[in-house]
Amino acid sequence: MVQLFWKNATSKVVGEAHGITREDLAGIDPLIRQCHAKVRSQIAAGLLGYAALPGNTEYRAQVQALVSRYKPNTTDMLVLGIGGSALGSIALQTALNPSTYNLLTDRKRGGPRLFVLDNVDPAVIAETLKVVSRRAKSLLVNVISKGGETAETAAQFMIVRELLRKKLGADFARRIVATTDQRQGTLYEVAQADGYACLPVPDDVGGRFSVLSSVGLFSAAMCGIDIDAILAGAASMAERCTEVAWQSNPATMLAVVKYLAFVAKGKTMHVMMPYSNRLYMLADWYRQLWAESLGKRLTRDGHEVCTGPTPIKALGTTDQHSQVQLYREGPNDKLTVFIEVKKHPQEVRIPAAFAEQPGLAYLGGQKLSKLLNAEKVATEFAMAVSQRPTVTLKFDAITPGSVGEFIFLYEYVTSLMGEMLNINAYDQPAVELGKLATFALMGREGYGDMAQKIKPFTRASKRHLV
Ligand code: PA5
Repeated sequence: MVQLFWKNATSKVVGEAHGITREDLAGIDPLIRQCHAKVRSQIAAGLLGYAALPGNTEYRAQVQALVSRYKPNTTDMLVLGIGGSALGSIALQTALNPSTYNLLTDRKRGGPRLFVLDNVDPAVIAETLKVVSRRAKSLLVNVISKGGETAETAAQFMIVRELLRKKLGADFARRIVATTDQRQGTLYEVAQADGYACLPVPDDVGGRFSVLSSVGLFSAAMCGIDIDAILAGAASMAERCTEVAWQSNPATMLAVVKYLAFVAKGKTMHVMMPYSNRLYMLADWYRQLWAESLGKRLTRDGHEVCTGPTPIKALGTTDQHSQVQLYREGPNDKLTVFIEVKKHPQEVRIPAAFAEQPGLAYLGGQKLSKLLNAEKVATEFAMAVSQRPTVTLKFDAITPGSVGEFIFLYEYVTSLMGEMLNINAYDQPAVELGKLATFALMGREGYGDMAQKIKPFTRASKRHLV
């Protein structure tokens, strides 16, 4: 189970200038009630597609059917995608399989080795393809693109398709699954022409909200992760999110803390700091969800606000030795969300040794999980002493269910924040210009004017190049 602990974001702990007061909570009551009612009614009207994913049995069945078809004959799986079409797969795999998963033997793993190409760095692509092409006959490629023309995914796909054609000849199409729109788009057309198996990206679910659809679930299920348990966890959190008494609801309470910290206490930076390497990539997933959903120039009624808290990821304990100096003594502009895990997937005990060395002896016989969690509490305490607000999301354990709970919780909090800030949390207009400029720079037909507009920004004079 995932629970929210928010005492250390209150004024009692960090002072009135930085923490939430009783008056703040009383003042926010009408807004959170109104925004929560709106999100609930949008869900009831079927307007927020992501909220229906935990209960969608059709998508789950489609995924399971392809897993049954491919898992027995697949040793390596390559996911091609970027942004919302890749981060969910990476987060699920990192959270729910061992960090050494790809190093295990074929027999010991729960499925194929998994490689997610979420960029177009030529070195990484070349290195990965060298490895997977050795077993091309048992390689499965899952190309994921909702729009079907994202340049990075398109480039990855063209390279990998060519590799498969060379290695497998006419059979190459049998080793590709396309996850895309089910009616239209370039990838859809290519998939139809080449004859790939297909999985849907639901029409009404944006990329960054799509991890609980076939976008995130197919690679997870191929790699032995219990996707039914992920969805059950998400469904149970969805149920908790309906609670009208907002101080008893983890989503409304977290949204209130985050909103008040942002608009009333000047906490423009929202750090997520899991004390678990397994959960670190969930912080990466959160960064995209938060940034693309809440970073907006205009309110819904067209007023310029240029709003949005900046999401930051950090890792405990690692970043205690890198970031915490800034978090405690730098600008008091951060709200930190710690993630704490009670029972970690593995345990290691430190051997008793060095009895004559007080600087080492105290560690002997203790569990690493105790050290990790003690460091979290120590940092939480140190931040409170410096009047830095924090909250903690407490996981009993890292399970498919708790990860599903966390994902749904954050999606719902994002919807609530969008309503409270009065912005559209479901579009990303500022991402588009960069996509179009890339087309122009790469010579795509019809983008000549754009290429001309870009030129002055790249022309180097001696004065500006030192
Ligand atoms: O959340 C989003 O909408 C984006 O991050 C997209 O997921 C990303 O740009 C990839 O888009 P597509 O799936 O259309 O290739």
